[in-house]
Amino acid sequence: MLRAGEIQRAGQESGFRVDKKGSIDLVTEIDLACERMCRETLAERFPDHDVLAEELGGLAPGPTPSRFRWVFDPLDGTTNYAHGLPIYCSSLALEIDGRPEVAAIYDPTRKELFTGERGEGAYLNGRALRVSQTETLIDSLLVTGFPYTVHERSGELVALFGYFLGRARAVRRLGSAALDLCYVAAGRFEAFWEQHLKPWDVAAGALIVEEAGGRVTGMDGGPFDAAAAHLIASNGHVHREVVDTIAKFRVEHVKKQMS
Ligand code: IPD
Ligand code: CA
Ligand code: CA
Repeated sequence: MLRAGEIQRAGQESGFRVDKKGSIDLVTEIDLACERMCRETLAERFPDHDVLAEELGGLAPGPTPSRFRWVFDPLDGTTNYAHGLPIYCSSLALEIDGRPEVAAIYDPTRKELFTGERGEGAYLNGRALRVSQTETLIDSLLVTGFPYTVHERSGELVALFGYFLGRARAVRRLGSAALDLCYVAAGRFEAFWEQHLKPWDVAAGALIVEEAGGRVTGMDGGPFDAAAAHLIASNGHVHREVVDTIAKFRVEHVKKQMS
């Protein structure tokens, strides 16, 4: 992670090529350089483990699936990165038998390394992390994100954003799901919600939130499914209120569309 951070910091100074994967979905040569470096490091140290990452996909090194899989996003917050906005990171989780057990997320701008290990807690630069103790939505600072398909359903996404705006202290949109999750773990946000994420966006951050005493579920409050990657992550105390707000919004939104 620290080496990926070095590559990212150097890229901001030297400049880099940016390509488009879709009309608003970017990939920079730094995403690719970080991914290659991480893959090479993992292949040297753990030649039998599987790997799933954003840019080159799920390449399995051996013919049979391993119990161990590294899930990582070499650069989370690519749009910010491409615009020189210093809110981005790299995110890495080790899954054992399909469940994240160890996680690390590094923000090179602030030199913040978030880590977590199942049953062992979550840490920021080695200091134990704890979610906030805020109990109500009206006292909460929330964060969300929009998927790259935002142009197809911007009405609904913005309407939900507005719905929370009217019920919370404030709502932010930072552009890095992995950091959004770390900031819930650190007590900087009370809750985060987003739909249509990918396993590499959330595998590490969800574990870090849980290990900091928070809660992670699907958008309906049911169990979180990393493959579906629709999630609410919170400090636990405001979780019910966030789930209920989304449920209420959906009913009202459907009613409005039908009328
Ligand atoms: C994106 C960021 C963003 C979220 C998008 C993700 P990327 O990842 O995490 O905050 O809203 O849904 O795809 O493309 O920068 O790695
Ligand atoms: Ca990402
Ligand atoms: Ca990425």
